[in-house]
Formats: sequence, structure tokens, C-alpha cells
Amino acid sequence: MSDLNTRSGEYKTHIEQYLKDFYAPFHGEPQKLLYDAMEYSLLAGGKRLRPIFVFDFCRMCGGDWKKAAPFAAAVEMIHTYSLIHDDLPAMDNDDYRRGRLTNHKVFGEPMAILAGDALLTDAFAAATMTELANPANMGFAVALLAECAGSLGMVGGQVLDILSESRDLTEKEVIDIQSRKTGRLINASCVLGVIAAGGSGEQIEAAAKFAGCLGLAFQIRDDMLDVIGTQEEMGKGVGTDEKKNTFVKLYGLEKCEELVQKYTAMAIDALGSFEDTEYMVNLARSLTERRV
Ligand code: IPE
Ligand code: IPE
Ligand code: MG
Ligand code: MG
Ligand code: MG
Repeated sequence: MSDLNTRSGEYKTHIEQYLKDFYAPFHGEPQKLLYDAMEYSLLAGGKRLRPIFVFDFCRMCGGDWKKAAPFAAAVEMIHTYSLIHDDLPAMDNDDYRRGRLTNHKVFGEPMAILAGDALLTDAFAAATMTELANPANMGFAVALLAECAGSLGMVGGQVLDILSESRDLTEKEVIDIQSRKTGRLINASCVLGVIAAGGSGEQIEAAAKFAGCLGLAFQIRDDMLDVIGTQEEMGKGVGTDEKKNTFVKLYGLEKCEELVQKYTAMAIDALGSFEDTEYMVNLARSLTERRV
């Protein structure tokens, strides 16, 4: 367990510093308010799980994980933009995120929308700064990131999530929505880590398989925490999913608990193509009982 905490701490410190340094040179620009809004959400903590996946998949493929920092920053910037927009009154209309008021509550809706737009766009500039083991893979990496974040991936999932509020869904539909809205960016994170290290095609496939299963377990746990979690622990409002077609609505809490375990075990099974997997196995297991 202590290795879990030490390594997670090392990864988190590295990404926090990278993100701070990324925007520091722009503080003198006249649109300073935009940077204030972006950094308000970007530097508000958060578990930094997606950067951790980038770093550790790079490490598990024998790469120098620190070199993957621009990829890690890119996925965290895209994730943070998705949270800012997800919280808007036109979307989930939430007041708290990462332990503070939501972006639009502090900066107003126009600035929150633009902070999200800028984080999404800047993420691609960051991604291209990654020093890859095989530089010829950059096109593939950026296209993968775009596909996972865009209309086929996270944004597509958010659309299906909104459209689903008015009707009951089948199990297959709920899994499809959650795989897109949460799973795809986790997929990008794990696979970008492999690409940074110059990992094999087999490792890319295994990382995608891990991410698909882990993403489902993660979102099921997120839906459970909306019912059993507290705002103090989560840093965001709870009990706000009533209208949503969540896993909890579909299966009930007890079955959700089983499914989190089942998908986590499937994710762990996919790690066979990597070296030194103990940290990732422990991380995946620890997420099954997270309260945050
Ligand atoms: C929240 O993601 C949104 C979901 C996809 C469930 P996280 O739970 O990773 O949020 P942070 O980054 O720790 O704030
Ligand atoms: C959001 O899912 C997933 C995103 C792409 C942002 P949720 O709406 O369940 O996330 P929370 O619970 O607000 O963090
Ligand atoms: Mg939402
Ligand atoms: Mg939400
Ligand atoms: Mg949620």
C-alpha cells in the first residue's frame, strides 16, 4: 500500500508542476481572466487518475515516464474542460467541483465555456510536445486523442447521456454511453502511455482492453458514490443523478458493487503484456472502494 501512495504522490507532484509551468508564461496576456478561470479548475486538485495512467503505462512498457508529461497534461486538460462544461446549468447544473464552487459560479457562464474551449484546444498543442520513443507515432497518438475526446468518444457519450434522461435504457445502451463518456478518455490515457514508451501493438491492445474494463468499473463506482458518498469526501454535489440512467438505476447498489469487482478483475487480467504491474493492480483494486 505504501508503494501505491508513494508512486501516486510522485506522479501527482510531477503533473501538478507541469500544468502550473505550462500556463505560467501566459499570465501577462491581456486575457488574464481566461487563464484565471482555466487554472481555477485545472489546479484545483482532483485525483489526476488519467495522468497517472499515462505515466504508469509508459513505465510498464519500459519508458521514461517523466517524458510522457505533455500527454498526461493533455488528457488532464481535456478531462478538466469536460468537467467545467458538464457542470454548466445547461448540462448537469452543479454547484461544486473538486471541493470548490463550479467554474461558472465563480467566473460566469461565458468565461466557463471559454475556459473549457481553451483547455480542449491547448491540450492538443501540449500533446504534440511529447518526446516519443518513436516520433513517427505522433500522428497516430493525436488522432487517437481526438477520436477518444470527440464526437465518437466522450462528447458523443455526453450527448447520449443527455438524450437518455427522458426514457429507460437497456443494459447495452447504458454500457455504451458510459464507455464513451468516461471510458474513452481513460482509453486514450493508457494507450498514450504505451505510445510514449514505444510499446508494441499487443501492448496497445492490452492497454485498451484494461481501460475499457477499468472505465466501466470507475463510472459504476461514480454512480454509486452519487448515492452513498458525501459532498465533503467527493468535493462535488451528491444525490444529483435522479433523472439519469445510471448503473445504480439499472442494477441497484448491491449488483453495482459486484460489477465494480468484476470489471476491475477483467481490467487486471489484461495487464499480462506489461512489466512490473504491481502498482497498477493495487491502484485498480483501490479504486473499487474509493470514497473520492
Ligand atoms: C469525474 O472524474 C467524472 C467522471 C468521468 C466520473 P474524476 O472522478 O476522475 O474527477 P477528478 O479528476 O478526480 O476531479
Ligand atoms: C461526466 O459524468 C463525465 C464527463 C465526461 C464529464 P458525470 O456527470 O457522472 O460526472 P460527475 O458525477 O458530474 O463528476
Ligand atoms: Mg454529466
Ligand atoms: Mg455531472
Ligand atoms: Mg457522476
